[in-house]
Amino acid sequence: MKNRTRRLSLALALAAAAQLGTLPAGAQEAAGPIPRSAGQPYAPRNLPDRIVLTPGADPTREMAVAYRTDMAQAASEAQIAVAVDGPTLDEKAQGRTGSSRTIDSANGAARYHQVRFTGLAPDTVYAYRLKGSAGWTEWLQFRTAAAEARPFRFLYLGDIQNGILTYASRVIRQAFHANGNIELVLHAGDLAAQRDDLDHDDEWGEWNQAGGYNWSIVPQLPATGNHEYVDVTLPTGAESRKLGPYWPLQFALPANGTDPVKATTYFVDYQGVRFIVLDGTAAIDLGAMDAQTRWLDATLASSKAKWNVVLFHQPVFTCARPRDTAEIKSVWKPIFDARKVDLVLQGHDHCYSRLTSEGGRAVSAKARADGAVQGPVYLVSVTGSKMYGLNDRARAQPDRTAEATELYQVVDVDGGTLRFRTFTASGRLYDGFDLERGADGRNRLNEIAEPKIAERFCTGAVGPDGGKCVARGK
Ligand SMILES: [Fe+2]
Repeated sequence: MKNRTRRLSLALALAAAAQLGTLPAGAQEAAGPIPRSAGQPYAPRNLPDRIVLTPGADPTREMAVAYRTDMAQAASEAQIAVAVDGPTLDEKAQGRTGSSRTIDSANGAARYHQVRFTGLAPDTVYAYRLKGSAGWTEWLQFRTAAAEARPFRFLYLGDIQNGILTYASRVIRQAFHANGNIELVLHAGDLAAQRDDLDHDDEWGEWNQAGGYNWSIVPQLPATGNHEYVDVTLPTGAESRKLGPYWPLQFALPANGTDPVKATTYFVDYQGVRFIVLDGTAAIDLGAMDAQTRWLDATLASSKAKWNVVLFHQPVFTCARPRDTAEIKSVWKPIFDARKVDLVLQGHDHCYSRLTSEGGRAVSAKARADGAVQGPVYLVSVTGSKMYGLNDRARAQPDRTAEATELYQVVDVDGGTLRFRTFTASGRLYDGFDLERGADGRNRLNEIAEPKIAERFCTGAVGPDGGKCVARGK
């Protein structure tokens, strides 16, 4: 709503200035056409694009795919086969159908399709392909989850949101290039900015180009951020927000969360980890806090997983803002503590923070040295180019922070050990810790011995790379 207000006041100011004949040079351009992605490359085509794989509620038995075609491809048609090692996938492939919805955009009318692959066998490699009006895509390969706890690796990304193709793409590609066998990708919200001064279809084009085929072969677990919501005017004239149209088109999610936010809340059990995805924006701004709180508690209570990971956008402890997210801190944090959540993965603040004790990094380090049990570990990270400056407590409260730094996180789950590593955009180790599950059923946190680069922050107007500080105060 802030952006809309800004645009409205800009438009009114310009109109007034034009009447007075005082239009400043360049002002017309500022309120002019919405900028487009260079070359305008995102028109729908006669082959599927924007292909995103998501897990079913039971990823041992089900996966789903969402994709886009031009309007000529009316049917949602896929083929799937158990993978073989020769070029004969079509011999035993089975046809699957799904459903589609259309969307009009600056890139033309398009059809978004969704197909659910059900009845799969656990721990099995499958290949699938999708039909466009000109023919089939290449075969795309994924593996279903094993039915039991099994070591695996997942990637956690903060806000991609800004500079999606220009800047965030290299972070995503570096993450995949340097780390094989990533089996899931967690997105902590604000995948695109989706504000009035941007073309939303171009943004989703960039988001898909940035992830490329990785989005179509590795199941994605996205959480909504505030930018997944767009401004609307209610019939009463009041301003509100609603979920933008791309979210339900682009992600074929399990829909096993809670009303009234079934489209944006869900959980997935994957080889010994329960991932729970919440909608912070709906909780804070749209009256969906109580329902999510009850569902969160019940979903943690029923978890038989060794590890429980919670993913949402607005952080409990903020590294950029003057105050923590009070609503979430007061309602969800007690549940994370009581139900022994292991990791709380968040975004929103466009800085990095790993926080293990509200009392601060010195308190936390001493507690660790004394053998204290580790409660939930709170992470905030950012992938794209927008950066916020650290707040007044960030250098003392979290164990580790970063400013003006693009990052990705690789997490290895291996029995009673969870290894968390944070890397910078160019692949340098920035932070890391191991959670070890003890015989008492509780976690101990071990700092890692591997060498990390120095903590990154701005000094006055100078950024951590020696140029200008690109982090702005929040
Ligand atoms: Fe954001």
